[in-house]
Amino acid sequence: MKFREIKNNVFYCGLNDKERKIFDELIPLEQGTSYNSYLVKGSEKTALIDTMYPPKAEEYLNNLDENGINKVDYIIANHGEQDHTGTLPKLIEKYPEAMIVTNQFCKNNIMEMLLIPEDRIQVIKNNEELSLGDKTLRFLLAPGVHWPDTMFTYIVEDNLLCTCDFLGAHYTFDDIFADDSKELEHSAKRYYAEIMMPFRKMCQKYTQQVREINPDMILPSHGPIYKNTKFILDLYEDWSSDEAKNLVVLPYVSMYGSVEEMINYLSDKLNAAGIKTIKHDIVSDDLGDLAMAIVDAKTIVLGASMVLCSPHPAAANAAYLVNLLNPKAKYASIIGSYGWGGDLVGKLTGMLSNLKVELIEPILIKGKAKEDTYARLDDMAKAIVERHS
Ligand code: FEO
Repeated sequence: MKFREIKNNVFYCGLNDKERKIFDELIPLEQGTSYNSYLVKGSEKTALIDTMYPPKAEEYLNNLDENGINKVDYIIANHGEQDHTGTLPKLIEKYPEAMIVTNQFCKNNIMEMLLIPEDRIQVIKNNEELSLGDKTLRFLLAPGVHWPDTMFTYIVEDNLLCTCDFLGAHYTFDDIFADDSKELEHSAKRYYAEIMMPFRKMCQKYTQQVREINPDMILPSHGPIYKNTKFILDLYEDWSSDEAKNLVVLPYVSMYGSVEEMINYLSDKLNAAGIKTIKHDIVSDDLGDLAMAIVDAKTIVLGASMVLCSPHPAAANAAYLVNLLNPKAKYASIIGSYGWGGDLVGKLTGMLSNLKVELIEPILIKGKAKEDTYARLDDMAKAIVERHS
């Protein structure tokens, strides 16, 4: 495959992986992903920025050969995770003169994870520059907008910013440039929900930083390159803002229909009061959809049946995921139904400890909803409506 030129001797040399079904063994992928790698040819030196996921190594290395890349001076590792560094051991064998350039944190990671020898790594500090002759690479540490080792690489003369996993998307594409479509927005939001939402405050900070740099293009590690940088920066500003939307997300698991009936009743009441709801069947629906739904939600109400005096494992899984992703929601509650008894509310709220939410009075009943249950659901709906007003 011939490398596509992005601008002035900066080339795209990444690969699509349309067959990949799940990322981090956690969240399903809707259309695979891409692992982006960039080749920068300066007048004196050549650099690769980020490399390749190991199962794609052979194709990646063959492409470098086919494009006549027989010498690489620097390999920039913006972050140590192996979808971008996994091919480093093969690359330093292939290019014996190449130095891996990265920050101290990432150096430790690639030495531990990939057994890279220390004498092949050159450590840089924040704002340090590396000359390739007529091109300069400037390294901007961005810890916490994903891993502590994350950094950006700015190609100074071309005003191109490689933002690592930040601003990416699990989006496979035939063109290398963003089409600014609704489909891309969906994919970028799903990616944000799964990968960046836990670092929401850092996303605010680095979205602003990227705006100030005002690059001609944003080159992320997954998904297309943004020529229209405003497209993705505006979306990140919205998703990461402290402002939640008038939305209640209702993830639930219901063994015999009692929980589902209560969730439906509450949802209808909220809709009638002008509040949008998203119901999510935890067992049959895609967890990635739940992650996306909670990006904007002001309130999350978790519905759960009990199994053996404990929350259903699917509800525990959803609570654990929501807690891990740490959305901006302001309010939460729990609706549950049991056969024997047990501490459903205590166990589930204990699993949501990261969330800075006000807990609206939960509802836990034995078996099916009765007249007083509906009255309590009316009260819950009223409490949510008041808080959303
Ligand atoms: Fe795409 Fe954090 O690796």
